[in-house]
Amino acid sequence: MQHHRYEIETARPFAESLIWQLNRDYYQKTGVEAWRAGTVPHHLTSNSMVGKTYAELIFAFLRDLADQGQHHDKVYLLELGAGHGRLAFHILRHLEVFTAQAGMQLPPYCYVLSDIVEDNLQFFQQHPQFQPYFADGRLDVAYFDAIGSQELELRHAGITIAAADLQQPLLAIANYFFDSLPNDLFYFKDGQLSSCTVALTSAVDPTGLDEAALFAALELVYDTAPLARPGYENPIFNSILAGYRQLVFNTFLLFPRLGLECLDNLRQLSQKGLFVLSMDKGFHEIHDLEHAPAPKMITHGSVSFSVNYHALGAYCQQHAGTVFFPEFATFNLELGCLLFLPKGERFTETRAAYQRVVNGFGPDDISGLMKFTYRHINDMDLPELIGVLRMGGYDSTLFKNVLPRLKQLSLQVTFNERTRLAQTLHQIWGMYFTLNEPADLAFEIGGLLYALAYYDDAVRYFQYSTDHFGHTPDSYYNRILCYYQLRHDQLFSATLREAQAHFPDFAEFAQLEQLDLGA
Ligand SMILES: C[S@@+](CC[C@H](N)C(=O)[O-])C[C@H]1O[C@@H](n2cnc3c(N)ncnc32)[C@H](O)[C@@H]1O
Repeated sequence: MQHHRYEIETARPFAESLIWQLNRDYYQKTGVEAWRAGTVPHHLTSNSMVGKTYAELIFAFLRDLADQGQHHDKVYLLELGAGHGRLAFHILRHLEVFTAQAGMQLPPYCYVLSDIVEDNLQFFQQHPQFQPYFADGRLDVAYFDAIGSQELELRHAGITIAAADLQQPLLAIANYFFDSLPNDLFYFKDGQLSSCTVALTSAVDPTGLDEAALFAALELVYDTAPLARPGYENPIFNSILAGYRQLVFNTFLLFPRLGLECLDNLRQLSQKGLFVLSMDKGFHEIHDLEHAPAPKMITHGSVSFSVNYHALGAYCQQHAGTVFFPEFATFNLELGCLLFLPKGERFTETRAAYQRVVNGFGPDDISGLMKFTYRHINDMDLPELIGVLRMGGYDSTLFKNVLPRLKQLSLQVTFNERTRLAQTLHQIWGMYFTLNEPADLAFEIGGLLYALAYYDDAVRYFQYSTDHFGHTPDSYYNRILCYYQLRHDQLFSATLREAQAHFPDFAEFAQLEQLDLGA
C-alpha cells in the first residue's frame, strides 16, 4: 500500500537544503537547554578528559611559540560553536594547572567563546564560574558565524580583531562543529563525478511541528546529475575534488566547502597563521570515504553529519601546512590538528603531545571505556571506580552516572579508600561546570563526605548546595547533623531554629531536637 508523503522541499543542492536552516533555527530557539536537557549529547565529546587532551595540545603549542621567541603577544584560543561552554571550562581548568607548572615564560592567552546563538553568549557572559577568567583577561566572548564572519568583536576587551591584526597564530577549537555546517555533496561512480541534490518529504503532516519533531519525521531523497568537472572558484577545492575521481569508487562524498571557507576567514586574522584543533565523528583516511551510501543524518534534537577530515587535511597540506591525524583506526572520535603554519616541523612539542595524548591513549579510548564502565558498574569496587574517575579527568557527569554505586561502596571503606574517595570528590567538584541542571552535585558530595565522617567538608558542600539551590529542608537537616557530629553546639541550635522558622512543617526537625548534645 502506498502511504501518502508530505512534500517539505523539492530537490535542492545538498548544501542549500532546508535541513541546514532548520538546524540553525533549532540551536537559536533552544539555546543552552539543548544540552541542559541532554537532547544534544555532549558527555562523551566535552568531558573533562577531552578538555584535558585539548589543554595538553594547547600547552605544547604555547611552549613551541615560547621556544621560537614569541613570548609577548597574546595567543587567542577561539572556540567555534561553543554551545554550552563546558568544554571551555574544562580546557581552562586544566590549562591553568599545566601553565602554572611550566617553568618557563609562556605567551599570555585569551580563550574566546563564540557561537551564533545570542542566548549561549549571554549564558557565558553571566556564568559565575567564568567571572574570574573574564576578570583577568583569560576569557572573552564573541559572535562568530562560520558562514561569513570575518572579524571577531571581543565583548569584554571591547576590541575587534580584523584582518592581519594578530601577531601570534590564531588557535581555533572546532569540537563537534564541522558536523553541523552545510556540506556540498558529490557522487563518484566509475571515475564519473556527479553533483547531488536532496528533496525532503515526511510521512507525517509537518504543520506545527518544531524542528526536532520535523527532523525525526524527515526522509531525504537524493538524486545525482553528472558533472563535466568540479566547478568551484577556488582552484584548490577543484584540485582536491578532482583528485577524488581517481581515489574513491562508487561513493557519496561530503565536501566541506563552507568549513574550508571558514578556515580561510580565520587565517586572515593573523599574520602568523592558524592552528586548528578539531574533534568529531569523521574520517581522514581515503579508504574510509569509499563505497559510502548517501549520507546518514544523525538526529539528536538537531542534526549532524560525519566530517570529511580527509578534505580538511588535504586543504591544509595544499597550503604547505602540517596535519596530525590518528595513527590508529578510531571507533568513535577523530581528533586532528591542522597547522596552517610555516615550517610545521618546528612545532616539536605539539607533535610530541599529539603522539602522547591522541596516538598513545586519548578521548576515543576513554569513550569506549566509559561505556564499558556503565555496563559493568555494579561489579566494580571502589579502587576500580576511583581509577575510572581519575582516567576521566574527574568528570562530573561520569561521577553522577556512577554515584549510586559509589554510595553503596562508601558504606564500607578501608582507611586508605576513605582518604582517596574524599580526595576524588574534591577534584570532581573542582571540574564541575553547572548548566543549571536539576541535579544537586554539591548536596550529593556533601552526603558522601558525611558518610565518610568528613563533617567539616560536608558542611561546606551543603552550603554550596544552598548557595545554588536556596534553602531546602534536606540541606538544613544535613548541615545541622554535621554540627551535631562536630559538637558545634551553638551553630547546631541556631541553625535548627533558623531551619524550623523557614520550614515549620518539616517534621524531621523535631527528631534533631532530641539529639543529646552532651553525648
Ligand atoms: C553540535 S553543537 C556542538 C557544541 C559544542 N561545541 C560541543 O562540542 O558539544 C554545534 C554548535 O555549533 C553552533 N553553530 C551552528 N552553526 C554554526 C555556524 N554557522 N557558525 C558558528 N556556530 C554554529 C551551534 O549553535 C552549536 O552551539
